[in-house]
Amino acid sequence: MAADQLLDGECQIWWARPDQVPDDVLTAVVPEAEQRRAGRYRQRVDRQRSMVGAWLLRAAVAVQTGERPGEILVDRTCTDCGQQHGRPRLPASGIEVSVSHAGERVAVAVTRLGEVGVDVEFTPLAAHFDRELAENTLSSWELAHLDGSAHPGADFHRLWVRKEALLKATGHGLRMPMSRIEVSPADQPPTLVSWPLDIPVDHVRLAMVNPGPRHQAAVAVLTSEPLTVRELDADLLR
Ligand SMILES: CC(C)(COP(=O)(O)OP(=O)(O)OC[C@H]1O[C@@H](n2cnc3c(N)ncnc32)[C@H](O)[C@@H]1OP(=O)(O)O)[C@@H](O)C(=O)NCCC(=O)NCCS
Repeated sequence: MAADQLLDGECQIWWARPDQVPDDVLTAVVPEAEQRRAGRYRQRVDRQRSMVGAWLLRAAVAVQTGERPGEILVDRTCTDCGQQHGRPRLPASGIEVSVSHAGERVAVAVTRLGEVGVDVEFTPLAAHFDRELAENTLSSWELAHLDGSAHPGADFHRLWVRKEALLKATGHGLRMPMSRIEVSPADQPPTLVSWPLDIPVDHVRLAMVNPGPRHQAAVAVLTSEPLTVRELDADLLR
């Protein structure tokens, strides 16, 4: 079995930089409709991140299915309006995926365990603590814990990526207020403490992942099984 095949209980996180993949490789794999979608961004680096995410998703899944990356069909039907801008899904494959891009990192999560969400955030001013944003996104219990922290800015970003990963796993995205979800304090192993959904908290796994300096990232998987996370570089896919 190839080293990058998904193992039992595993979620893979594939990492790329926005400049890591040449344009001709991207356009050979990403369908025209998705190239047009990426073209909606005004900044070149935003277009590049979106294109690399769409490429990395297909390249990482192709390793599992044995297809060519350009043959992977991705359904992005929005559950609100039906347009192709919702969470990515791979119909009838048994594989769940999630994409995130920020700063110098693009992440794709791939697993068979259950629905998955990954979030990466660029945190150049990790030491800066935006208390107003924290008040809008944290519960009073989380806020009280953060107020006692020596590094509230960095710790806030760690809570943010945990919550956004969870909301991407459920597919809600930022339509559900983050303040309705409680996660463990930043200095403790990441767990879901409470949320208003019917899914029991012990059917959810959370892990921090390693995007490198000046970024924070987390992954959430809707499963009661133990979770193993393996991080891999996009260079393995070319
Ligand atoms: C999903 C969401 C949280 C991502 O926010 P972000 O921090 O800016 O972006 P990230 O880089 O972490 O993730 C972006 C990726 O999430 C994926 N995504 C989009 N909607 C998603 C959803 N509802 N659930 C999970 N993932 C989603 C896409 O793959 C997207 O990347 P792409 O557009 O380049 O393919 C945010 O876009 C959101 O809340 N969307 C829902 C809003 C919505 O659906 N409104 C109704 C519109 S009719």
